[in-house]
Amino acid sequence: MKYQDKNFKYTDAEAYDKRGESSILENYVLDLWQPFLKKVIGNLSNGQVVIDLGCGTCEYAQAAGNAKKIYAVDIAEPMLKICREKLRNFPQAEIINASVADVSLPLADLVVTIGVWEYVRPDILFNKIKEITRKDSKVIVVFPNIYNDLNWMRSLGKMKTAALMPGVVKKLFRNDFVMIDSASFGAVFWFPKKLQFLAKPIWKLWDLLWKPFQKFFPAGVNIYYLFERK
Ligand SMILES: C[S@@+](CC[C@H](N)C(=O)[O-])C[C@H]1O[C@@H](n2cnc3c(N)ncnc32)[C@H](O)[C@@H]1O
Repeated sequence: MKYQDKNFKYTDAEAYDKRGESSILENYVLDLWQPFLKKVIGNLSNGQVVIDLGCGTCEYAQAAGNAKKIYAVDIAEPMLKICREKLRNFPQAEIINASVADVSLPLADLVVTIGVWEYVRPDILFNKIKEITRKDSKVIVVFPNIYNDLNWMRSLGKMKTAALMPGVVKKLFRNDFVMIDSASFGAVFWFPKKLQFLAKPIWKLWDLLWKPFQKFFPAGVNIYYLFERK
């Protein structure tokens, strides 16, 4: 099921939320990453001002239920329609249809940027993050890892860079932030959809064996960094 048009705009939010049903690979990755990230957001958002940039259908913003205020920003109205449904019982939530490049926002205690780094120029996104953070603000950064086999194959398939080099992101944050946590897992590689059940045990084993080395040589499909503003 396709959820993007030929210009990579998000057009079908329900298909996006159901992407875990479309392949064993997507399901494996989501089952690992979603609980992990929701836990981090839940722990960091209690009583805080949270801004989710590129919030999509607000699957992650939902985890900030105890936040004092939530600003959820996305450029795609079909995604925000589902977001409004998910956050209908969150009176503290403000849902904003805008580009992260030119949206005007207050200062945040926690900024969430999951899966948006490959759509917005990293320097523009970083400048927005700088603008809306102050000392001790935290920033969750999650982006597709170019060193993962699936991501460079996807990049070739789309004729567009679908992933980032970890060094590029680290360099952007180096002067103004300290990294306080990092992780990478979901070490999947491409496999034909119908045969993915054969690959799943290998992905699992690969994740287990590579776990001690992930912080130094991330092989997972995504990379997670938690930064704190100096
Ligand atoms: C891969 S989805 C991630 C959604 C959500 N963060 C998640 O992880 O489920 C990328 C999202 O970024 C949004 N997006 C892309 N470019 C954007 C921009 N310039 N400003 C705001 N949102 C943008 C898309 O509309 C889409 O909802």
